[in-house]
Amino acid sequence: MVANALKKVLLFRGLTPRELKQILSISVLRRYAAGEMVFAKRDLGNTFFIVKTGRIKIFTTVGADKKKTFAFLKKGDFFGEMSLLGGRIRSASAQAAEESELFVISKKNFKRLILENADFTLKLLHTLAERLNECDKEIESMLFHNILGRLAEAILKLSADKHTKPVKMAIDQNELAQYLGTTRVPVCRAINTLKRSGVIDYRRGELVILNQARLRSIAGNLQ
Ligand code: CMP
Repeated sequence: MVANALKKVLLFRGLTPRELKQILSISVLRRYAAGEMVFAKRDLGNTFFIVKTGRIKIFTTVGADKKKTFAFLKKGDFFGEMSLLGGRIRSASAQAAEESELFVISKKNFKRLILENADFTLKLLHTLAERLNECDKEIESMLFHNILGRLAEAILKLSADKHTKPVKMAIDQNELAQYLGTTRVPVCRAINTLKRSGVIDYRRGELVILNQARLRSIAGNLQ
């Protein structure tokens, strides 16, 4: 059963059953309750993680009250590689945003995988290139986009895996503010502007996209 779950992980697609078995034998499955920390920024990094189920929030904190969410990782995504490959200490914190299960691989075994499995290494590099691309886009967005455009982008990005019609997602205003690296007040104002123009509806933590085309146009060409 765990082998089947591993096969669905993009990072492991294309690996032979023997190779999958090898990975299974070197990983431990760990469960995290909603809200539980996986690790904190600046901890010493000695493990690599792959999400089996749930949702992991990657974020940074500056001072007592400034928080910025970098990403929400879900089934098949990995994290924890940066400190193992370079910096030694965790570049950001990781927390279970909901009940989650993670495959945990030690630093020694992660390095062995990289050296012995070219497919694994290529997929890892591919994802790192994609993440760098996302970071470049976000810098561009922060410099040249106003809060409305950035909120529209964030809504499109965070709802990319929702397939209901209309698209709905549960998210609170604090979470959106942290994702945008700002405070609740400007986000609340921008939400109200989108609501007033009939682009979204937002009630009691549930956001509904009413006009996807308009939302895309507000997000501009950064999408
Ligand atoms: P590490 O530095 O070991 O611990 C924090 C992890 O968060 C880091 O490895 C990456 O795996 C992950 N991470 C950091 N920044 C991002 C980002 N912008 N998008 C997705 N994951 C990230």
